[in-house]
Amino acid sequence: MALVAARPGVAARARADDPFLRAVVEDSIRLFPTTLSILRETTEPTAWADRALPVGTLVVLPSSYLHRGPHRPDAHALNPDQWLAGDRPAGVVPFSAGLRLSLRPKKWLR
Ligand code: HEM
Repeated sequence: MALVAARPGVAARARADDPFLRAVVEDSIRLFPTTLSILRETTEPTAWADRALPVGTLVVLPSSYLHRGPHRPDAHALNPDQWLAGDRPAGVVPFSAGLRLSLRPKKWLR
């Protein structure tokens, strides 16, 4: 609500346009993910980025950093338009990804 209130143009557009309203919600979850990091423990020898990860390695996927890191041009700003092109923007994982993807309200949120 605060993000939208700070940008009156966004509020007006969201009222008139359902896909844009959904994109506002999705980008708000990018900026404020309920799960700040996703944790995993390797159960078999694994490799990632040329590093060997032995069994029992704790792997942290810092979703909050992925969503707001300096690699993103929109790191701290609401940017709903990026969701209108189609799929989830690359590296945005508010609901995790892969096999353990959240059930989430999937008719509504990607
Ligand atoms: C804004 C709303 C939600 C957010 C941000 C969210 C986020 C997440 C995240 C990040 C995970 C992965 C956690 C992990 O693997 O460490 C997860 C898992 C899960 N979520 Fe959600 N979730 C939301 C709503 C829901 C709802 C409404 C449901 C059910 C109707 C749901 C059901 C589940 C289930 C069952 C898993 C476990 C999946 C598995 O491990 O196979 N979530 N959620």
